[in-house]
Amino acid sequence: MSIPREFIDLLLAKVDIVDLINTHVPLKKKSASNYFARCPFHNEKSASFSVSQPKQFYYCFGCGAHGNAVDFLMQQDRLSFPEAVESLARVAGLEVPRKAMPHKKDESLTTLYDLAATVAEYYYEQLKQSPRAIAYLKNRGISGEVARLFHLGYAQSGWSHVLDMFGTNDIDRKKLLDTGLIIRKDEGGYYDRFRDRIMYPIRDHRGRYIGFGGRVLDQGEPKYLNSPETPLFQKGHELYGLYQALKANRKFERVMVVEGYMDVIALFQHGVTYAVATMGTATTAHHLERLLRYTTEIVFCFDGDQAGRTAAWRALEVTLPLMNDSMQVRFLFLPEGDDPDSLIRKEGKPAFDQRIRSASSLSDFLFQTKWKEADTTTMEGRTQFATEAKKCIDRVPAGIYQDILYSELEKRARVDLGHVPSAARLGDSSPDETGLLRPKNGLAMTVSSGLQSRLPQPIHKALMLLVQNPQLAGLAIELPAGNLPGLAFMNQLIDIIKQNLKITTGALLEYWRGQKEEKFIAKLAHWEHAVPETGIEHEFLGALRQINVLAYDNEINRLLAKAAQEGLSNEEKTELAACIARKKAYT
Ligand code: UTP
Ligand code: MN
Repeated sequence: MSIPREFIDLLLAKVDIVDLINTHVPLKKKSASNYFARCPFHNEKSASFSVSQPKQFYYCFGCGAHGNAVDFLMQQDRLSFPEAVESLARVAGLEVPRKAMPHKKDESLTTLYDLAATVAEYYYEQLKQSPRAIAYLKNRGISGEVARLFHLGYAQSGWSHVLDMFGTNDIDRKKLLDTGLIIRKDEGGYYDRFRDRIMYPIRDHRGRYIGFGGRVLDQGEPKYLNSPETPLFQKGHELYGLYQALKANRKFERVMVVEGYMDVIALFQHGVTYAVATMGTATTAHHLERLLRYTTEIVFCFDGDQAGRTAAWRALEVTLPLMNDSMQVRFLFLPEGDDPDSLIRKEGKPAFDQRIRSASSLSDFLFQTKWKEADTTTMEGRTQFATEAKKCIDRVPAGIYQDILYSELEKRARVDLGHVPSAARLGDSSPDETGLLRPKNGLAMTVSSGLQSRLPQPIHKALMLLVQNPQLAGLAIELPAGNLPGLAFMNQLIDIIKQNLKITTGALLEYWRGQKEEKFIAKLAHWEHAVPETGIEHEFLGALRQINVLAYDNEINRLLAKAAQEGLSNEEKTELAACIARKKAYT
């Protein structure tokens, strides 16, 4: 990560989470430092969403959403971590110091985004002036409201409307060229790329205008003309309609991937507000990775013909290496001759929903395709089926899902995979003590060791009080040594706090972002305890005392055991006496 930690500390100290959240969700003051609201992250009637000013931390008792100011923006605006830091810095009036990205480039990109937005607005206004374009959209069943939501526009016929309007000097013409809105003539001069077309502005996930698709109103080639690849727009990265889908859905149950602009828009109009289009290109890993930030269920929608099946298979191949145990991927094949646009207009939403429900799972589609490709009436054919299907499953990351695919394959092939020719069944596995083959990162990994379950009670309590009241670290003058579980972690925590005694709970969480302790710390941060405000110091010191007693007990027991078995050295005898004396001092 290229954002310096000190900057994040500074940023979180500067922004008040209460002010920040209040601009998105009106907060009600509950006590001196606590605020409540209805949770923005799930539907609810009562207010379970709490924000603590001193902690600079929010927590929903309903859905468990929690975090600091950065987390809030990540969840609320669905931003990545660097994007959220950027956004928060804007609120605070600070500039994010970044090493890798030269400032110059940023600036010129910003002006390209601005230009694309301005021209999108221009096309949008032009649509209102063209009864023919309006009639076209009406005829395709698009309501005014949906046209506004997708900001559909119209590019007049003529060679230089955009050029004349926005390209009055060399610098501006260069920008129009860079956004792909005008084209340079061989003999010199420029002309508008989009002429007499319905305009579909393409926006990125943050709503910035990055490109356009333009459709002919009558017959004509090409049917759709798109922005070329530009610094703003890379087709293999962007999904048409994602921004609108994000706006319309607080939480996605699923995302549907379709091909065309009109599919997204027609589906939206009929209440399927979670469709995005790859704009006629094959689905890429970039597309999928983006979608997986918002959902765990993806439904790919394809034509039922051979071309559709081929495209679906390609999507499956891109998906395999990205599968994980919590993901669901399904394939919906439409009747030949229909696309989502025509189908939902013909059948309506309930029938379309029914199709979604009965879409093939990834595993069904995989096995059916490979089964059809082999002559499974013969043993050789079944072997071929098993070999081919296994190759696909090998590409799924190790885990429960992969395990299930392997055993499903064994069932379907009616072979023991141990007999499949070519290499071992599970390439990267080794026999464990029981002699059984197990995927290396399989089941064992998913039961990750939870810190909290092994912690002695006073350590757990001290950690919780510390995370919720970091200034307590100032009281921890002498820390117990030894190897009690959680002690090293506690010392690390105290070290961090001692460098900045004013650090808040929310800011403290940043130190563990993306690490295995992250969840545990967050849990400590919203743990409800019955300790009254005035008793917190007393309680913390009490816990420290108990920890010391435990630590000495541990050491005493170890030395006594050793004494009984092999005897102690003189040094160890002195240590034992010291431990007994110190323990007494604490009890
Ligand atoms: P389709 O040919 O299926 O068109 O292309 P469509 O979406 O059903 O369009 P309508 O209903 O006739 O208006 C699917 C997608 O492929 C891209 C577009 O993104 C289109 O939405 N495409 C298609 C192009 O980029 N250029 C073309 O000439 C055709
Ligand atoms: Mn269509």
